[in-house]
Amino acid sequence: MHQNTLAIQQNVSLAPFTTLRIGGPALYFAEIRTEDDLLDAIAFARKNGLPIFVLGGGSNLLVSDAGFEGLVLHMALNDAVTSVHDGGLVEYTVPAGADWNSFVLSVCQEGISGIECLAGIPGTVGGTPVQNVGAYGQEVAETITSVRALDLEATTFITLGREACGFAYRHSIFNTTDRGRYIVTAVTFRFDLARRPSLTYADLTRHFGHSEPTPLEIYHAVREIRHSKGMLIIEGEPDSRSAGSFFKNPIVTPEIFQYVASTAGLSPDQIPHWPAEGGRIKLAAAWLLERAGFVKGYAMGKAGISSRHTLALINRGNATAADIFALRNTIQQTVKTRFSIELEQEPVQLG
Ligand code: EPU
Repeated sequence: MHQNTLAIQQNVSLAPFTTLRIGGPALYFAEIRTEDDLLDAIAFARKNGLPIFVLGGGSNLLVSDAGFEGLVLHMALNDAVTSVHDGGLVEYTVPAGADWNSFVLSVCQEGISGIECLAGIPGTVGGTPVQNVGAYGQEVAETITSVRALDLEATTFITLGREACGFAYRHSIFNTTDRGRYIVTAVTFRFDLARRPSLTYADLTRHFGHSEPTPLEIYHAVREIRHSKGMLIIEGEPDSRSAGSFFKNPIVTPEIFQYVASTAGLSPDQIPHWPAEGGRIKLAAAWLLERAGFVKGYAMGKAGISSRHTLALINRGNATAADIFALRNTIQQTVKTRFSIELEQEPVQLG
């Protein structure tokens, strides 16, 4: 029988655990350092009839002012990364609580390509499969081979292969069909050592021209681009009190795309757009916001829009969740009226 002593705290303010620095208290809160801690915490929640919430880096999270009347599990599993070499491939298994950017850096420093475009994304490794984190033409679905998780239905740890994870744009089974069923404890990534970085994204190809950059050079370039857009979390910078992109880039039918063009008085090729699954078209939410009047630096009370990226709603200082909700609702309603598009919130909402 395992003997574990898990400390459970009460009335812990969640704001400091989120990059938005917003949110009320958790009734109960536990630091999860091992898989045994996780089992103990689940047993506690069940015994007391408490809902649970899994907190990683808090970088994609909006907590309500009322907080959460349940048990927050702060995922701090952080034992060593293990690696397996197999011919021209290497696999790394990374604990859920590891800092994502540090892992990206260590892979790039070895000259390995596959996640260099995901540099500078805040948060923990365990959060990356949940929303299939992506940026600059890469997403974690390309390199993840399996995810280890606690299955709350059977109360056992299982390993899910990539296919079972059901990855799509900002989607996986973890945030859709099986939301709430699994708690990720480790993620395995596989890299092909012969793979050369491929740059698909305009911001990056422009940065490097025709040269062949190394993964580490791309790592630094991506961080620079993210910094210029206020998308690096830097303590004390107001533009970084955000949860990253606040809206998903909408994927629309060709008809809606035509409608957007005609109502904006533009030809379709004057509008930023990219091909998406099933003949549909991905639009830039930031562009829609700007056309609807929500530009960089826009302020509404203590909430606002980043001065460097339209898609990031920010806490301008002492904002509450209610301030962010008010701005969000205003933006959604205006964009809906103007373009007939319902923007979907990207960050997870708690409470
Ligand atoms: N744009 C504007 N105004 C802006 C910024 C962008 O009009 O202030 C338009 C431009 O047309 C630009 C296009 O939007 O070409 C795309 O902009 P950007 O490259 O900055 O990316 P994004 O679509 O705003 C997405 C992800 C980010 C990711 C970047 C880089 C989503 C919802 N967001 O943002 O992910 O870092 O691409 O690849 O998919 C996140 O999900 O939290 C996130 C930060």
